[in-house]
Amino acid sequence: MPRRIVVGVAGELAPGERKLAFIDGRSIVLFNLDGTLHAIDNACPHNGAALAGGRLEGCMLRCPAHGLRFDVRTGCMAGRGGLKVTTFTVAIVDSKVVVSLDEPHAPTEQARDATPYQETERCKA
Ligand code: FES
Repeated sequence: MPRRIVVGVAGELAPGERKLAFIDGRSIVLFNLDGTLHAIDNACPHNGAALAGGRLEGCMLRCPAHGLRFDVRTGCMAGRGGLKVTTFTVAIVDSKVVVSLDEPHAPTEQARDATPYQETERCKA
């Protein structure tokens, strides 16, 4: 059973904003993409760089170290590289932002079917 950790309060992140949360020695980045919260591990799967400072282009986050891009919604890398950043389920519970740990978040049907970014369609998470 995943552990659910409160990392903030509902409404504290406006669309386009992000926030770092430190939980049990782990660094997680929360993003508000068009009103929906997403959480990813702050470590790039390529070489471990912190993703929190990466440039966000729509739903794609560019790693500041070497420029690989990951879909914040699914964790999938753009293209066919096969790398995937760990994502976590985020929920609003009693006006608090809750992240579920221990059970990486699988891409939702909605995220897999999203079409604004072609990279998502090529993701083989
Ligand atoms: S460490 Fe992120 S692209 Fe290399």
